[in-house]
Amino acid sequence: MVMTQEMKERLEKSLSPKRFSHSQGVASAARELATRYGVDVEAAETAGWLHDCAKQVPLTDMQAYVRQAGYTVDRAVWNSPALLHGPAGAALAASEYGVRNHHVLRAIFYHTVGRKMMSPLEKIVFLADYIEPGRDFPGVERIRAAAKVSLNAGVLAGIEATLHHLLETGSTIYIGTVETRNWILESEENID
Ligand SMILES: [Fe+2]
Ligand SMILES: [Fe+2]
Repeated sequence: MVMTQEMKERLEKSLSPKRFSHSQGVASAARELATRYGVDVEAAETAGWLHDCAKQVPLTDMQAYVRQAGYTVDRAVWNSPALLHGPAGAALAASEYGVRNHHVLRAIFYHTVGRKMMSPLEKIVFLADYIEPGRDFPGVERIRAAAKVSLNAGVLAGIEATLHHLLETGSTIYIGTVETRNWILESEENID
């Protein structure tokens, strides 16, 4: 599953220059993580490129893409552009970019909140979104360091940074994010 030049041009037209360059950064970070952790490099890079492909459309358009694709999401995700652009991006990647690889689609779908039973590819895109070279927020170095320890450590550090931020800003916390964190902690405990 290669990201073709034609797909890149299409993506560039639908994103701001800043968001496009973020996507390029996520693709390169995803490629690096996939190489390090033995995951399909082309799939990781393509999912990285496309993860935010629906980020800049209105919420009602995101909802239409998700409905057309027949995806079900819970109410909290349905009503939040910050969460719904993951599922909407997967729908758009399939319908507009011709992506047929379900692992890639799932990595795009779940990049906003993760899920229990995340695959290594899903973890890579989730994590690459935090640590791509253009990211510069307080705590990003801690996540970059954790990403070198293991995928789980990196994902956990990313989720924790998000939770801290949501608490500090008095924002609602999506329950699925907490479930992802707990699942990672529990799966770590189960490794002998
Ligand atoms: Fe995103
Ligand atoms: Fe992103």
